[in-house]
This record gives sequence, C-alpha cells and structure tokens, in this order.
Amino acid sequence: MTDFSSDLTADTTEPTEWWRTAVIYQIYPRSFADANGDGTGDLRGVTSRLDHLRDLGVDAIWLSPFYVSPMADAGYDVADYRDVDPQFGTLDDADALIAEAHRHDIRVIVDLVPNHTSDEHAWFRAAVVSPPGSPERGRYLFRDGRGESGELPPNSWRSVFGGSAWTRIEEADGSPGQWYLHLFDSRQPDLDWTNPEVREEFHDILRFWLDRGVDGFRVDVAHGLVKAVGLPEWDHGQELLEGATAGGERPPMWDQDGVHEIYRGWRKVLDTYEDRMLVAEAWVEPAERLARYVRDDEMHQAFNFAFLTSGWRAGALREAIAGSIEANDSVGAPSTWVLSNHDVVRHPSRLSVAPDGGLVNGIGSDDPQPDEEIGLRRARAATMLMLALPGSTYLYQGEELGLPEHTTLPDEVRQDPAWFRHHGEVAGRDGCRVPLPWQAGAPANGFSTTGRSWLPQPDSYTRYAADAQAGIEGSTLELYRAALRIRRERRTAACTLAWAEGYDDSVVAFNLPEARVLVVTNLGSEPVRLPEHAAPLLSSEPLDEHGNVPADVTVWCSVPGAS
Ligand code: BGC
Repeated sequence: MTDFSSDLTADTTEPTEWWRTAVIYQIYPRSFADANGDGTGDLRGVTSRLDHLRDLGVDAIWLSPFYVSPMADAGYDVADYRDVDPQFGTLDDADALIAEAHRHDIRVIVDLVPNHTSDEHAWFRAAVVSPPGSPERGRYLFRDGRGESGELPPNSWRSVFGGSAWTRIEEADGSPGQWYLHLFDSRQPDLDWTNPEVREEFHDILRFWLDRGVDGFRVDVAHGLVKAVGLPEWDHGQELLEGATAGGERPPMWDQDGVHEIYRGWRKVLDTYEDRMLVAEAWVEPAERLARYVRDDEMHQAFNFAFLTSGWRAGALREAIAGSIEANDSVGAPSTWVLSNHDVVRHPSRLSVAPDGGLVNGIGSDDPQPDEEIGLRRARAATMLMLALPGSTYLYQGEELGLPEHTTLPDEVRQDPAWFRHHGEVAGRDGCRVPLPWQAGAPANGFSTTGRSWLPQPDSYTRYAADAQAGIEGSTLELYRAALRIRRERRTAACTLAWAEGYDDSVVAFNLPEARVLVVTNLGSEPVRLPEHAAPLLSSEPLDEHGNVPADVTVWCSVPGAS
C-alpha cells in the first residue's frame, strides 16, 4: 500500500440521509468477540471492540441475529423476536451496545427475519398441536400431502439448503399429518404473509426495536415472503439463495409482486421515527427488478449481489456497476456494494478459486485450494475498487484484516444446515464464519480469554490478527483505514461516476469528478500507464518503478478535473 494522501483537507460534513453514502460493517456476533469466555461471541464482546470500528472509520454496524434461537441456522431461526439469546447476552446488553455505538458515532442496524420463524417459536409450537384449518396453522403454510394418503409433499419445491421444501408433521393423535413449507431448513417454517396477523406482528416487532434506538433493519430473504397463489409447481433445483431468473421464468417463491405492499407498510412505520432505514437482502435479477424494492415509499437500500458475483472480470464488473447505478438512479435510491458476507466464501479466497464469478458454496479440504497470495492481492484491489464506488458499502467482519476462508475445517465441527442437507457434498458457509483473530498468539488469537472458540481458526489467522497489522505500513488493516479516511474526506461516495476513456478492456477506470479522483483497477496482466496529471493518493500495492499500475492493483489518484 502506498498512501500519498496526507495533504488532503478534511471534510466531515454529515450528509443528510446518512445511509446513502454509509460504510456499514457486518458483525456476525457469534464470531466477533467473546467477552465471557464460553467460545461463542456475544454482545458485550461487540461493545468491547467498538474502538476498533471507530478507528476503522465505519458509519454503522449491522448485527446478524442475536435473538432467542435454537441455532438450527445460526440465529436465522428466531424463536423470540423481542429477546436476546442467553448465549449472546441480555436485552440490557443490547441496550448498552446501542448506546455505546451511538457514543462512538456508529449507527446500529439489526437483522429482521420475516420469511420464517424457528420451529421453536410459540406460534409454530401452537400450530403443530392445533388441528388442520385452525387459526394457529393459518400463520404458516400447512397443506395436505398428495397421493392416496397424503404421503407425498404438496408440490415439488426444493429447499435452498437441499432436499424437499416440505416436512410432514404428526398430528396430535399420532397419525401422519399435514405438511409445512420451509424454503430453508425444516426447522425454519415459512410464515403465511397473506395472514393479517403476521403482518401486524412484524409492525410491532419493528416498533419494539425502533423504540430501543436501532437505526435500521437488514431484511432477511426480502424477496421470499409472498408465494404465488396456489403454490404452482417449480421443478428446478434451488441454488443457495439464487432463483430470480431461470430461462426467463420467475420462480413462484421469489420476487412476487405482492412483497412490495408489505414494505410500503413497513416504510410507514419507519417514517414515524427519524432517520431510520431498511435494507433488503433480495437475490433478485435483473437490476430493474431489484430497484423495485427501493422505490421511494419502500426500502432505502438493497444489497447488490450482481457486483459480488462478478468475479475478477473487468467486463462483468463494469456491467454490474453501470447496471446498478442506472437502475437505482431511476428510482432515486443509492447503489450499494458488497464483496463478502456470512453466506459466501470470503473474497480473498473466492477471487482466487473463482475469478470467473458466480457463487461458491464453501470450500472443503477436498476442493481445489485458493492461492493465498494472489487471492489477497486481488481482494485488496477489489476492495479499493468497491470503496471508490458512489453509494453505500457493506464490509464483512474480518475483511479489513484480509482474512481468507477457512478451507480445511474438519467435518465434525461443521454446523451449517446446508452442509447436512447436502449430505456433505458442499462445504457450506462455516468457513467464512470462523472467529476473528484480535491478538496474535494469544489463546484463540484473542477471540476469547479462555482460548475457546466455537469453530477452530486456521494457523494462518495468527498472521492476520488485528494487533499484528495495526500501525504496520502496507497491512490490509491500514489499507482499509486509509481508504475509508480518503473516502470520507473527499466525499467520494456522494460523487457521480464517469467512465474514463482510453484504457484497455481489462481495466476498470472511472472518474469521480466532484472529488477530482481517478480510479484505475488493472485486471489484466500488463502494467497500466496513468495519465501525466494523475497524482496517486492510495494504491492497493506499490506502483511499479515507472509509476505504472501493476496487474491486480487498484490506485486512486488526485486529478485536476475529469480526465
Ligand atoms: C441469511 C442466511 C440464512 C437464510 C435463511 C439468508 O439470507 O443471510 O444466513 O441462512 O437467509 O434465513
């Protein structure tokens, strides 16, 4: 990393509608920091590390679920939406975290899981002991089976995690009973969003957390709540959270027009508070369909998975960038950018094993292994490209350390339901969820005081520990800090993007005219010459001896005007 930017004047003016340019850092609570030493991260652990996040320069945190849950899907199976699971702490800990984060000038977004509950939620427990057709069953999608005695599932839908999307229950009298729909694990029954009681309940849950001071919600599986009337057949397989398009048809379980009315209702609730936001996790294509979630009376943002799945290909990246900006501009919403989260292979490893893009459903010991050096080099360049894009950016915990995926986890420690439901054929998501290394060489590298850790860290994590990188020139942590500082000072995220002319196809290059910044990412193999008037501000690796941009490097330059 080369940082030439110390001569910049600071501009810390707070933009209105903070989410439009915010850098939002995702915390996966069970792997962030463990304050009580039981091997699972907790809310007090998060509070204890807020200084790290302030020094990094993020505007907000998004916390993955910490609600009461049997953890069949790591908390995305909620048994009580209004309380904290004891392994993460208490409601008082949540209040303290929100207050402390605000004191650090960091906003707090919590995860809302409306598509399904846990099978241990009071509603589902009541449903299974109530008769078919009862109001208790009417909160979920129970149906009679097909076949002579209802022994076949009601339709052919598959679970995102593998296997059928239907599970049959035993009725209260012990006879084989109805089936219920679960687009994910069998312990995550889907709610029936045509039921007004379900809608009212979620308005109330929104208010519960808004009243506690949260600044927004990340809405899980936002494209799945409404299913096509009659649950028509869909024989296609189901990739991990994919499913927006298949031969032009829209699957009957995703992106149905009826979801938008729900979000208009939620927006009205949020608008009775100040400055709160909603971000959709919606795996929807094309960009125009996704933009429907962020019309001005719906959500504020939607994750941009087209960018994440572009791989390390200049053309695909340019297309994803241009397509997102155009579609979002058409509805007045900010674009968002993300490279890693708790569902995908960490981008240093992904950009090494899958430079052609798409999703990789985990990496196991038997799979081709990433090249750590190439992966990290590309990841740093990709991150600098992302952080330069206008709009809001999401970071995933540990990416500021350049953490690779854990690709050799022993089978016996795996917990992802996708691994079990695919009978071990795909590694699943545990490898990106490994607890963070804070202190090189300490027990569990400082994740917990006792050295306990719900998943083991790979040996390499000692090298990546936060304290081994802080203050070290060229470290990934210092690169992120410098990039976020320049982004803030030059307000690059509020700029328009103008493609720069005269570069090879294997280069992504654009100007941010209002900030007088030129961004060049070299995805080819030959060094790229910079314009004479461009003065480098920050680069993901040193430029070569001629001042050219080497392969797999991004540079931000100060320029006199648009070039
Ligand atoms: C979450 C996953 C979760 C799934 C089911 C996803 O969108 O990000 O982690 O397994 O929803 O709730």
